[in-house]
Amino acid sequence: MQIKFLGHSCFEIRESKNILVDPFISGNPASPYVELKPDIIAVTHAHSDHLGDTAELANKHNCKVVSIHEVSKYLGARGIVCEGMNKGGTVTLDGVDFTMTEAVHSSSFEDADGGCPAGFVIKDKKSVYHAGDTALFGDMRLIAELYHPDIALLPIGDRYTMGVREAATATSWLKPGIVVPMHYGTFPAIEQSPDEFKELVSSLCDSEVVVLKPGESFEY
Ligand code: NI
Ligand code: MN
Repeated sequence: MQIKFLGHSCFEIRESKNILVDPFISGNPASPYVELKPDIIAVTHAHSDHLGDTAELANKHNCKVVSIHEVSKYLGARGIVCEGMNKGGTVTLDGVDFTMTEAVHSSSFEDADGGCPAGFVIKDKKSVYHAGDTALFGDMRLIAELYHPDIALLPIGDRYTMGVREAATATSWLKPGIVVPMHYGTFPAIEQSPDEFKELVSSLCDSEVVVLKPGESFEY
């Protein structure tokens, strides 16, 4: 499996399919220039730094979009074909399982309510937990128990989400092989040190912290 970081909370996950999560590309000062060819786009919530270019990309590449019911209805009304779902459920698209998880945050479009925010466990052959925007919450332990994510993508930017301390605790509960920090450094308000996160994680558990610059990727 290849995981490529595209800045902020946007990742490309490639194994049997090309999956794009939270494609905040235009207007993202941290977005690298990369050629995108998604089969499926997963959107964690309606905030513009996550919904991003979903509609344009879905139209251009004729790909599927998976999101919570309210986001799916909103996009559906604008001509985008969406797979709506809700928390606790799993949808299988092209052989890849998308399980929607809790996220403790808010969600809204510029001009409409966005339903609830969510995270995803995406299982191709390996499994990736993308936490979306969230506070630390105790039921991350259930995500570990039920889905055993190989890789966790966790926000560390503080202010709008977990900071390094909370994300390090989340890592110790989730026990992924690899954890990648996200949602930091894009704007001054969420400036955080990934090195501090790395140190804290290594004091709590054996998960490897992989810090990616926008455009960088790794194989697992
Ligand atoms: Ni948000
Ligand atoms: Mn956000």
